[in-house]
Amino acid sequence: MMKKSNFKFFLLPLFIVVCSIVMTMAFEIEEVPETEMTSNSLSENAAPANEPFDKMMAVLTHKRCVNCHPAGDRPHQGEDSHVHNFGVQRGEDNHGVAALRCESCHQQENNNYSGVPGAPEWSVAPLSMAWEGLTRVEIAQSMMDPAKNGGRNLAEIVKHLTEHELVLWAWEPGVDAEGNPRELPPVPKDEYIKAVKDWAAAGAVIPAE
Ligand code: HEC
Ligand code: HEC
Repeated sequence: MMKKSNFKFFLLPLFIVVCSIVMTMAFEIEEVPETEMTSNSLSENAAPANEPFDKMMAVLTHKRCVNCHPAGDRPHQGEDSHVHNFGVQRGEDNHGVAALRCESCHQQENNNYSGVPGAPEWSVAPLSMAWEGLTRVEIAQSMMDPAKNGGRNLAEIVKHLTEHELVLWAWEPGVDAEGNPRELPPVPKDEYIKAVKDWAAAGAVIPAE
């Protein structure tokens, strides 16, 4: 049996140990909001003046756009951007070769039974508008270059980016041949449209990188 005095000696260190554990825990709990605050204010500070450009380019570099702006003569498909099945080629007018026209499979709207996406004017973007393999800055430069963009000025680019049905299709991309919904671009449509307009209104500045 433990004597009473021994018991006290046993309790004191135990008390100290418990206290220090509690204090450590208290510190840890207090630290959580502090780190959150720091990282919040950091990301706010880091939010670049060019936030509209970042948002716009997060969409333009997404596969829903780049699959149809390929570098070669074949459009791409799917989340892994594999080369289009059935040997589909761009052809002379970007609507496919005579035997295999885009519009023989792609209709005015998605066909969610067969998984064939659709929108008016479905065709592959001309080679001068190839975005595959470019950095976001190179895409922006190409997009703004009248020699490559179909002779469009800024207003016409903004209109295309915010109103064209092939662009807006990306937010209603339907399901693939297996019935899985296609991934949406990483920025909601309204936010993207606002970002494009804000970027253009602020002078359409393309950052160095
Ligand atoms: C189904 C194919 C297809 C998809 C999907 C598609 N595009 Fe295009 N895009 C085209 C074609 C075709 C043209 C050429 C149209 C023309 O010149 O009239 C084009 C032209 C453009 C142009 C004007 C040319 C330039 O270089 O500035 C922009 C901007 C553009 N697309 C942006 C996008 C964005 C953004 C997305 C995704 C949100 C997208 N496109 C998705 C086929 C596509
Ligand atoms: C023989 C039918 C057929 C023809 C012809 C055809 N396609 Fe497709 N296309 C499909 C099918 C089916 C899918 C859907 C595949 C999937 O996602 O599972 C598809 C998907 C696509 C996608 C993928 C969209 C995405 O982001 O995943 C693009 C882009 C595309 N086609 C462009 C074209 C273009 C441009 C042409 C003409 C040059 C064309 N296709 C001709 C059947 C066809």
